[in-house]
Amino acid sequence: MQLPYAEPYRIKMVEPIYQSTIEERKKWIKEAHYNLFNLKSDQVYIDLLTDSGTGAMSDRQWAEVMLGDESYAGSRSFQKLDNAVKDITGYKYFIPSHQGRAAENVLFSAMVKEGDIIPGNSHFDTTKGHIEFRKGQAIDCTIDEAYDTDVYHPFKGNIDLKKLQSVIDNNPIDKIPFLIITVTCNTAGGQPVSMQNIKAVSALCRRHGIKVIFDAARYAENCFFIKGREDGYKDKTIQEIAREMYSYGDGMTMSAKKDGLVNMGGIIALNDEDIYNNAVTFNIMYEGFVTYGGMSGRDMGALAVGLYEALDYDYLASRITQVQYLGEKMAEFGVPVQKPIGGHAVYLDANKFVPTIPKEEFRAQSLAIELYIIAGIRSVEIGTILADRDPVTRENRYPELELVRLAIPRRTYTHNHMEYLAAALKRIYDTRHEAKSGYRIVWEAPIMRHFTVKLDKI
Ligand code: F0G
Repeated sequence: MQLPYAEPYRIKMVEPIYQSTIEERKKWIKEAHYNLFNLKSDQVYIDLLTDSGTGAMSDRQWAEVMLGDESYAGSRSFQKLDNAVKDITGYKYFIPSHQGRAAENVLFSAMVKEGDIIPGNSHFDTTKGHIEFRKGQAIDCTIDEAYDTDVYHPFKGNIDLKKLQSVIDNNPIDKIPFLIITVTCNTAGGQPVSMQNIKAVSALCRRHGIKVIFDAARYAENCFFIKGREDGYKDKTIQEIAREMYSYGDGMTMSAKKDGLVNMGGIIALNDEDIYNNAVTFNIMYEGFVTYGGMSGRDMGALAVGLYEALDYDYLASRITQVQYLGEKMAEFGVPVQKPIGGHAVYLDANKFVPTIPKEEFRAQSLAIELYIIAGIRSVEIGTILADRDPVTRENRYPELELVRLAIPRRTYTHNHMEYLAAALKRIYDTRHEAKSGYRIVWEAPIMRHFTVKLDKI
């Protein structure tokens, strides 16, 4: 008999969380203008707003915190991180930054010019933001399967080679400095990209002199999916798979708050000396000297250890199993979720969940609020509020997918928390027909409205 799955760690320190009542939560969410970003963390029982910087560090990482060398230049902690990044990626140059978007800011300052076109697989918001801020254009070349939550595809984060070819054919080649492969693809639902796809995209780009940059926030989880789902990788270690993946690219940016297993940190790694030299100048201006880039020595030490821990097969198996367990349990209850389940989060399909609420009244946001009121769970809307208004017509944009993301922090919640989450969703799903109305906006910012929007119940 095969023994059941269990976590490959035990708990040495606990953080109490307050279990509030429905009455308290109704009051708090009203005071927060029905915006989950406005809640205080003490008003939340299970916080699934993001898996970014919210994970638990290991005893070995905390030991590195005590060993942190806070020298301004050339610290031992930097040396440890420098060795780890180069060992894992195989790239020649490393620049630290304080988080993922800071790494983007530095690298894109060196690589993106006005009028440039940067194709990729559903660029993350900040990535797209840093391209558009420089008057460049991010073109999404993700495969169509990614937009249907019911279609099974083992690598829904893949880039469509025909779409990419068409971008190359229809634009001056000197306007396409690089392409971004986001592993796993957050915007498409934490969906992985296959090695075969990475290889083919890289070959096509290299034929045209286009560089390939990875957005590697969740690259270890992507490598775990490659090992489990792709022929030829079953017997390779995660680190070997990662090394092969990086060999098809020219560099990477990474939010270390995900697969770096730390609460704050970012990475740039590169092979090109000229781009590196250029980026170093921007790093010194925006982030700090090149041997700390906005991070404390102790944080760099913890990250050096975290990067290796995130490549450990048992850790990844337990991480991905937990997320899959939650998603599959919900699917069993009939709750409409994005399939297959992504690496870091379960996505609820609000159009299928609450079609009784008019779409003008923000289905996904309504569902996220209900989940908070009923169970104290904080999730995040990835739907109409996030999609914002059309810059010209100022009409609401209704995206193809109206989702609620339940992002699972790493090594933080237990199996019982997953059972609680699934049961809470079943309860809401069973009474979904009673949901007839949603929310209306009473105040919003001209851009990025989702963070500060104020809503009222209809
Ligand atoms: N790239 C991806 C794929 C991300 O998911 C994120 C952040 C970033 C870049 C930016 O990194 O936050 O360290 O500046 N994603 C978080 C999330 C915020 O909730 O998905 P950052």
